Order: sequence, then structure tokens, then C-alpha cells
Amino acid sequence: MAERIIVFDTTLRDGEQSPGASMNKAEKLRLARQLEKLKVDVIEAGFPVASQGDFEAVALIAKEVRGLTVTALSRTEKTDIDRAWEAVKEGANPRLHIFIATSDLHLKYKLKKSRKEVLEIINKSVSYASRYTSNIEFSAEDGSRTDPNFLVQAVRAAVKAGATTINIPDTVGYALPEELGERIRFVREQVEADDRVVWSVHCHNDLGLAVANSLSAIQNGARQVEVTINGIGERAGNTSLEELVMALHTRKDLMPFTTGIETKQIYHTSRLVSRITGLVVPANKAVVGANAFAHESGIHQDGVLKKRTTYEIMTPKDVGLDQSVLVLGKHSGRHAFQDRLKELGYVLNPEDLKKVFERFKELADKKKEVVNEDIEALIADEILMIPDTYKLVYISVISGNMAVPTATVQIEINGEIIQKAGFGVGPIDATFNTINKIIKTCTKVCNLVSFSVNAITGGTDAQGQVTVRIQQGSKVILGKGSDSDIITASAKAYLNALNRLDYLKKNPIKSWS
Ligand code: KIV
Ligand code: ZN
Repeated sequence: MAERIIVFDTTLRDGEQSPGASMNKAEKLRLARQLEKLKVDVIEAGFPVASQGDFEAVALIAKEVRGLTVTALSRTEKTDIDRAWEAVKEGANPRLHIFIATSDLHLKYKLKKSRKEVLEIINKSVSYASRYTSNIEFSAEDGSRTDPNFLVQAVRAAVKAGATTINIPDTVGYALPEELGERIRFVREQVEADDRVVWSVHCHNDLGLAVANSLSAIQNGARQVEVTINGIGERAGNTSLEELVMALHTRKDLMPFTTGIETKQIYHTSRLVSRITGLVVPANKAVVGANAFAHESGIHQDGVLKKRTTYEIMTPKDVGLDQSVLVLGKHSGRHAFQDRLKELGYVLNPEDLKKVFERFKELADKKKEVVNEDIEALIADEILMIPDTYKLVYISVISGNMAVPTATVQIEINGEIIQKAGFGVGPIDATFNTINKIIKTCTKVCNLVSFSVNAITGGTDAQGQVTVRIQQGSKVILGKGSDSDIITASAKAYLNALNRLDYLKKNPIKSWS
């Protein structure tokens, strides 16, 4: 009988630590609902002590998303544990996730504590957490670089104090598959607690080995894997959920393990995460990249036509890529539109529904066919955004090979409409310069670090999704906007970044490592 692997998704916590990938409360809830549809077992919804916004998002997800375990990250301080518990306690099956570093490197330079002190901290913090719940996960940060014998001591202390899941992270993505597998086996054998705990692994992808390392850990006794959608996360990211799950699914012959994942939801979830975080999925990305099922060479095409399995080890259908997209058009009524929203997992209040329906009608006038991806983009623009301080009212841009690119922009700020005109080397530059003239936040102190345009669907009438990243000091802020006119989409994206910057100033995030 194939053994069941627990899928622990940390897109909302470690994934959000990707530079510039921060999500707001509404976006987090939307993603949590989709993760529930994907049937992950555990969602790590955030790090509540980091900011009021994170706390509220975790609490909301715990309350609203009932079909799985919701957990929150916490350091070993009592205040962190209290805050994390406060956030998850309304959940259907809440878990506390406590971590402390255990490698000598971290002890000496970061924590400035002795091994003995760290063992005491583990004992105290896990015992303290067990007043709240018996569902406690303990992570030995930098576990893969920790002296194995001390790691055993740390894990014993955590188990003795009440931890029921033990996670061994490869925090800096340093381990090799055999080495990490061996480490999991060693700790399991030394601690002898298989009947009391679930062994877990959390890998980073600095050497591109996160999936291989996680599979090796599973083969050596790990029964929980910590993953993110599209592999996003701190630095080079984490183990990618879709790659790990499809590897187990495709190679059952050598790895007799199952997961509860609804694989047909994989593609849709990947697109949603990409749209929300603005982190574009590379075309050659395994499982969910645009080329993952595209066959270019004639020999391959011929082979696939004769027998699909000659060049395909999974089918697009397995990951939900073939899902027939029901098309809406300008004659579709409010009911058909509302039904589609429900299918996509959105229940909107009448006011929001009116806003989105109006945008849908405008879009349907310009574009022949409106598909699910378009609707998701409208919702992302209209409903999931943080409350706007700056609203785009009007934009007109003149450009061409014989014209000086000129933009005229009107922005509403606190009920007042301000209009200005400006020039630039191109239409986007003119637009951003004009916005900067109206909103002074970015003059001199902001850098535009990246700008990209992607077509949401195919065809020349597709909506463009623009993603910008601006940097102010050490902060990188993401902005997104979509429209069938890419200059308007660019203006919306830039304003979204400025709105987020303004929001961040009012709701600061504490740094925690
Ligand atoms: O990478 C890491 O070690 C972590 C822990 C907090 C689990 O993210
Ligand atoms: Zn991590």
C-alpha cells in the first residue's frame, strides 16, 4: 500500500519572502481558498508577529478556510507564540510552528547562544506552546548544517516537550540528496519516535536540488514535505509543489507514495500565484511552464502523434491544462457571469459584483471572447487590491516615430483630481514621469527595477498584464495592472506600486531573522 505524504504549503509564508512578492489580505485569502481546492493538507498562512497585516491575514484564513490545517510561524519567544496562537486558534485544526536555529554557525553569529541554552529554549518554548495545542511543529533551522549529534539532542528536547511534527530544514539549499536522506534516517533512528511524530523536510533551491532533496528525504522516512507553488520563496525559492507531486505521481513504480493533491488544479493554482505575486513562470519551468507540453522538433511531434508516450511522461490533462475554457462574450448576462465567478471560487458582495461586472462589459466590448484568465485579472484589479490612495481617472498618451512622447494623466487623491502633462523618451517613460509629477513620493528616491508586460491570453486583443517593481531604500515593491491597453495597464501597475508603498509606510513589517 502506497504511504500518504502530507503536503504542507508555505507559499503564503516562505513564498511571500521572495523579494517583492508580498500579498495583501484579500489576495492571501483568495490563494488560501485555491490551496484548499488543490487539497493541500496544511497551509502555513504567515508569520503573525511580523506585522498587524500578517496577523489579520492568518486569522482570516484560519476562520474561513476550514478543510485543512492552518498553521502560523513563530520564533521561540512567548510573545511570538501567543501572537501565532491568537491568529490560528479559530482554525478547524490549528497548528503552531516554532523554529530556532541549531547549527553552530547560527548559534555563534546570529543567536549568540550556547548549545545548552538553545536546548533549554526549545524545551521552554515547546512546553509553553503545548498549553495551547498538541498540534505543534518544531523546526531546527539550518538543520542540514547542524552537527548531527546536536541535532538529535535538539529534536529529542522538542519531542519530549510535546512537538508532534519535526521538521529538518535545508535552510540554505546546501545539502545533496543522498546526504539529506541519510540525515533524516539518522535522526529518526537516534530519536526513536516514529510512533509519536511525523518527520518533515523543508528544502531551499539554492543549488537547484530542492525537489531531489525532498524526494530523498521521503525515501528515508519523511512523511511531510514543505513546498510552495511555482517553487517561490526566500532567495532561489523552495521545493516546488507541482514538481514534487508530479514526480511522485509519475514515478510510482519507484516511489510508492501518494498525496491528496487534486492534480487537475495545479495549472490554475500556478497561474493564480504568478498573477498575485507578479513572479512570472519561466517558459521552460517543469510541469507548469508554457513549454512544458509543447513539442517543437518535427521528430518529437511525429512521435507524439504516433504514440503520445514517446515524448510525454505526463499529460496536460493531469495538471489541468486542457480544461475547456468556457467563453463569455458581450451578450453574457449578470447571471452567467456570477455563475462563472462561483465556479472560480469567488462569492462577491453586490457592490463588488457590480464593479467587476461593469469592467467585464467594458472588456467584452473590446475583446471577442472573455475567458477565466481575463476574469481572474479583473478581480485582481478591482477586488483584491489594497484600498487605493491614488486612483487613475484619465490617461491619454501621444507617441510615434515623429512625436515627442507626451502623457496627460489625471489622478484622484483624497477626493481631489489632479491633472498634469509630461514628456519622456517613450510612452511608458512619459506616463511614469507624469505620475511622478503628481505623486511626489518617488521623485529622486525610487528606482524602477523591473518592468514586464505579459499577455493574459493569446491573440492581439488579449489583455496585457504589466508588472513593475520599484525600489525605495531596501524595500522592493511590486505593482500590477491589467487592461486591454498596455499603456493604461502600465499606469495602473505603477500606481499600484505607489499605493503599496504608501500602505507599507502606514503598516510596517518587522524584520525577524
Ligand atoms: O528555511 C527555513 O529554515 C525556514 C524555517 C523557518 C522552517 O523557513
Ligand atoms: Zn525556508
